[in-house]
Amino acid sequence: MNAERSDGPPRASSAPTGGSATHEAASVGALGLRCDRTPAWAALQAHHAKAGKSFDLREAFAAHPQRFADFSQDAPHVFADLSKNLIDAQTQSLLLDLARQSGLEERRAAMFSGEKINATENRAVMHFLLRDPAPALVGRAQAAPESIANELAQVHQTLDAMLAYAEQVRSDGAITDIVNMGIGGSDLGPQMAALALDEFRLPGKRLHFVSNIDGQELATVLAQVKPQNTLFLVASKTFTTTETMTNAASAKRWFEAQGGTDIARHFAALTTNVTAANDFGISTTFGFWDWVGGRYSLWSAIGLPLAIAIGAQGFRDLLAGAHAMDEHFRSAPLAHNLPVRLGLLDVWYRNFHGFTSRSIAPYSSALRRLPAYLQQLEMESNGKRVDLEGNALPFATAPVLWGEPGTNGQHAYFQMLHQGTEVVPVELVAVKRVARSLPGHNDKLLANALAQAQALMQGKTDGGGHKHFPGNRPSTFLLLETLTPASLGALIALQEHRVFVSGAIWGINSFDQWGVELGKVLAKDLESRLASGDAAALDGSTTGLLQRLR
Ligand code: F6P
Repeated sequence: MNAERSDGPPRASSAPTGGSATHEAASVGALGLRCDRTPAWAALQAHHAKAGKSFDLREAFAAHPQRFADFSQDAPHVFADLSKNLIDAQTQSLLLDLARQSGLEERRAAMFSGEKINATENRAVMHFLLRDPAPALVGRAQAAPESIANELAQVHQTLDAMLAYAEQVRSDGAITDIVNMGIGGSDLGPQMAALALDEFRLPGKRLHFVSNIDGQELATVLAQVKPQNTLFLVASKTFTTTETMTNAASAKRWFEAQGGTDIARHFAALTTNVTAANDFGISTTFGFWDWVGGRYSLWSAIGLPLAIAIGAQGFRDLLAGAHAMDEHFRSAPLAHNLPVRLGLLDVWYRNFHGFTSRSIAPYSSALRRLPAYLQQLEMESNGKRVDLEGNALPFATAPVLWGEPGTNGQHAYFQMLHQGTEVVPVELVAVKRVARSLPGHNDKLLANALAQAQALMQGKTDGGGHKHFPGNRPSTFLLLETLTPASLGALIALQEHRVFVSGAIWGINSFDQWGVELGKVLAKDLESRLASGDAAALDGSTTGLLQRLR
């Protein structure tokens, strides 16, 4: 290990409450300096060249017995062991400098004060408001801008109405099946959370999630349900998304063809576009606001299927867990702020080590949809190539995010994680106590999570050739005491905010998604060409495929 490098807690000069260096840095951020033009960026490059790329975890632990304590962090409902990452105190200190110099604190303050930080859509970003508990309204209303106080009042009115409806459905014995039709953020969040919290689901209520435009998905669900026992939820922020509109229209046709007439009882819409839902023929609607991004909408009316499953109190607990993480993100010093530390690690790995992906391994089958959920969160938010002004960036942004639950992934792609040529930081998520398990299982599960993180770091160098494990492969270990609505809420909010952190440092808009638009337009054009056979002005490949498909 390099003698100049010191391990242990971050340097005092970098503490967020520190002296002039901090103020200077903050003013650089206020000038809007792009991250790669900050002094900290250059310092991190030099640090990486000198010590970062040759950093050895095994040596770091040998030299610093306190490393686990120094690089772990308690946050609301989540404990994080960051010690098996390729960082030392200096790395962390420089990353904190980068955060300040890139204006992270200013951007965070702008979000929490309701500024329109989603500039390309001229929208505020206030999903945190959806989990702000009512009592805070009283205290916050004086301090918060009037617009936020007004929004918060509406949030609580809508939440109360939505949860009252959820309770009504729960006590309605005739409704046994709830079919959520939505895609992207209108599917991934509620589906992931409903699976995660299945233990809390009211028996007798079956949840189905239909997202794909592939008619097989809806047809399979319709074959299992009866119109008189089914509640269809049309979940779409815009109420224009082709997949959801196609599925909703087919579900309504099926319902009516089966003799169903009471649309008001059997269909509800979760949308910001209540007029379009009414035009579609749905009168039971739960609204939300344009300042809730699709991938941040679990906390809004989009969470209705989950609320039906786990009840009003369970849903409020989910919001409370997320709110606790919001407060941690908003107020904990940067050096002890878990979303900040995770987001900075993401930047360190992506921009200085050049790692192209991150693998997520939930050691919990209940969390099996977490990787899919996080893919949208990370890659739709930060998969951007231009800065806030639209200028192309010279550095990399979002990594590829991928993964499967452990232990399944171990028997599929962990080979590559241990012995492949790419280094992939792994994020393990484990749950200490699991109520719905069987004797002996959870210890085996947890032992596997520990073993993988240990093996990635330690390696095995006495084997040689094919049996050589290089080790020194980084991992983060997130630990929940139990998987409850509150801890899940905190875990998701943690992930939202870490994505905010890296996006803020990169100086990109994490809240738009223009990249999904082109394909939507082309699909509309090709749908009519599939019918007509018109291939005029198409490229050769698309023409060839179109002809084969007809
Ligand atoms: O196409 C991408 C996207 O706009 C996502 O951002 C969003 O979560 C999803 O489609 C669904 O959109 P909507 O809720 O408006 O149907």
